[in-house]
Amino acid sequence: MAKKTIAVIDSYQERAIAVGLEVGKPVSDFRLEDSLNELFLLAQTVGIEVVTAVTQKLDKPNPQTYIGAGKLEEIKALVNETGANMILFDDELSPRHLRELEKHFDENVRIIDRTALILDIFAQHAATREGALQVELAQYEYRLPRLTRAWTHLARQAGGGGGRAGSVGGVGLRGPGETQLEVDRRDIRRRIAHLKEELEKVKVHRRQYRRRRKKSGVPVVALIGYTNAGKSTLLNALSNANVYVADQLFATLDPTTRRVVLSNHNEILLTDTVGFIQKLPTHLIAAFRATLEEICEADLLLHVLDVSHPIAQQQAQAVFQTLREIEADHLPIFTVLNKIDLLKNPRQSLELMARYPNSVAISALSGLGLDELLRKLEDFLFGRQHAISVEIPQKETYLIQLFSKEGIVDQITYSGNTVYIQGKVPGRHLAKYTPYLYPHDEDKLMQRERIP
Ligand code: GTP
Repeated sequence: MAKKTIAVIDSYQERAIAVGLEVGKPVSDFRLEDSLNELFLLAQTVGIEVVTAVTQKLDKPNPQTYIGAGKLEEIKALVNETGANMILFDDELSPRHLRELEKHFDENVRIIDRTALILDIFAQHAATREGALQVELAQYEYRLPRLTRAWTHLARQAGGGGGRAGSVGGVGLRGPGETQLEVDRRDIRRRIAHLKEELEKVKVHRRQYRRRRKKSGVPVVALIGYTNAGKSTLLNALSNANVYVADQLFATLDPTTRRVVLSNHNEILLTDTVGFIQKLPTHLIAAFRATLEEICEADLLLHVLDVSHPIAQQQAQAVFQTLREIEADHLPIFTVLNKIDLLKNPRQSLELMARYPNSVAISALSGLGLDELLRKLEDFLFGRQHAISVEIPQKETYLIQLFSKEGIVDQITYSGNTVYIQGKVPGRHLAKYTPYLYPHDEDKLMQRERIP
């Protein structure tokens, strides 16, 4: 595994007080309590012990200190009482909130928010050069407007052992009249520009690779799902590959693709992707756009859902929210109800299957249901023809030819610059046509292939 990119949370003996704020009406399906439980797991992933949690309900965050003055006093008292050295906020703090909050605590008490925590976990798990570059970029973009005494303090700590982080805090020489903070900012901007250039180069390679993959005509199936749902375990089970599997959040950061041969010698490329999470930091979505594009280019999405999780439904909603954000919500989806071995009552899996159309109940760990999943995949991609009506621009000659070559054309009408085709295509080509679906057909497709 790659080295940690930037050491934010560099001591694993942190003792934190978690802080959750419920603002107005909830923006996600996660209750405050669920979100905090998840924050504890995230903290645990990097070895932070959450000693206690405080919550508050406000119409809107306090403009200065995010939480109210009384709550702040309560937290200060708790710091003294518990000896905590970290205040961990369950939301992203604005630069101003962070600065104001820091004024209320000693230097040895660090204020960390959910985004910084997730970025740190990502930094620890980035396994390829591209992953590491993407996380580093996200970290610097998050930090730039938040440079405070905490940063210079941290940069000093990270200096030497912290690799690139040290260079940000230490290498810059002060120009006339420049403060250390200004030097730090200048160095970070330079580093951001450099990272963007490097990522651009990697992107070119990725595009070439994708083009080759497309030419091969082998359908790409992307495993997506909430973090820890079991995507890597499923990839391993289906391909016997030894992808890193761990009971940790975000064990997989880089897409890993394996070839899987189905029963009739049909092949698919199965690709593992980064796990989703509610409140996924926007910096990360932006930085991981190239990786997430892999999802957008898939022919089928396999949504892996941990049905043993107490808030599986909310996790599914968070996955759909992210799919909408990356504009991949038009793709055909299969729902894989995973970890059924953990269900107390086996009938539960039948009930879940009824609730999620086009789903398969499996245990990636025990292998239960995998044959059925493979059969369904093969049937969808290579067996069945799917009825669609599309309106394609005439210049998309490849799509028009492909329709008559591999599908069944029932009706074709040319009108101006567009071609209207009604007919059937095999599932492996369906995703190529979804951007051109006739509106009412799109509804039908969604009902058939997606969770409502
Ligand atoms: P990220 O990398 O965070 O996106 O996680 P992931 O979705 O790739 O999950 P991963 O495959 O790493 O599995 C997470 C944990 O769930 C591991 O401890 C697996 O052993 C466990 N797990 C996966 N599938 C099953 C299953 O069917 N049953 C049970 N009991 N555990 C499972």
